[in-house]
Amino acid sequence: MTPEHGPLIYEGKAKRIFGTSNDEEVLVEFKNQATAFNALKRAELEGKGRLNCQISAYLFEILQSAGIPTHFLGLASDEWMVAQRVEVIPLEVVLRNVATGSLCKETPIVMGTQLEPPLLDLYYKDDSLADPLLTEARLELLGVVDSNQRVEIERLARSVNDLLKCFFEKLDLQLVDFKLEIGVNRAGQLLVADEISPDTCRIWDKRVNNTKARILDKDRFRQDLGGVLDAYGEILKRIQEVSSKPRNCS
Ligand code: TMP
Ligand code: ASP
Repeated sequence: MTPEHGPLIYEGKAKRIFGTSNDEEVLVEFKNQATAFNALKRAELEGKGRLNCQISAYLFEILQSAGIPTHFLGLASDEWMVAQRVEVIPLEVVLRNVATGSLCKETPIVMGTQLEPPLLDLYYKDDSLADPLLTEARLELLGVVDSNQRVEIERLARSVNDLLKCFFEKLDLQLVDFKLEIGVNRAGQLLVADEISPDTCRIWDKRVNNTKARILDKDRFRQDLGGVLDAYGEILKRIQEVSSKPRNCS
């Protein structure tokens, strides 16, 4: 169901953001489009929007209950949520508990190495530049955040990791790594924005030993493993077994 909404504000690869009658709020529509490798690979996966919207809603609620601010205000329908209107900081904040993905392509670190403390990587969010990895010096030069915001972003990302890693552990799921986007609201507060879903996290099934079969995230799409929606559905099912329903704004 499509809720009543205002004009389109922004369209990304996986979501559309619309205005509402309240100018402090936006409506976020989760699309079925899947992309990888900076959209070189694309597909329509019927039902992905609903799964990512629902998973994100549950995870945002968990963060908020623990005092971690997020932009989430409530679900508007299966694949739409209401969120605070924020200015998204053009950074991809990546936290890694286990070495895999680009870390193993770009460094000699062996796949599967436990990263303790977890590694924080900051990328500049710009598709036309293919989201380059930043050094601290380049981050400072770009001036996209001040030093207090830089510290707060890292604190937020590490708190999200501590909480979600522990939550997923109870579901026999391993949180391997994830990407966050941080927004600034009208009051200047930093919030976890965007989405937290199997599109933006790596999650492995601890009930399965096989290194391909255990993958429950977008790597199934990136690596042509099939079963993308079943994997996302399994994550949602396990979350729902232990959580109360997210707020509803419809
Ligand atoms: P990476 O190993 O490819 O750098 O990915 C690290 C994490 O960030 C992984 O959980 C997937 C997520 N991610 C995104 O959400 N969007 C992206 O564009 C990329 C490249 C990774
Ligand atoms: N989200 C990125 C893209 O669509 C890359 C990825 O997730 O692998 O291209």
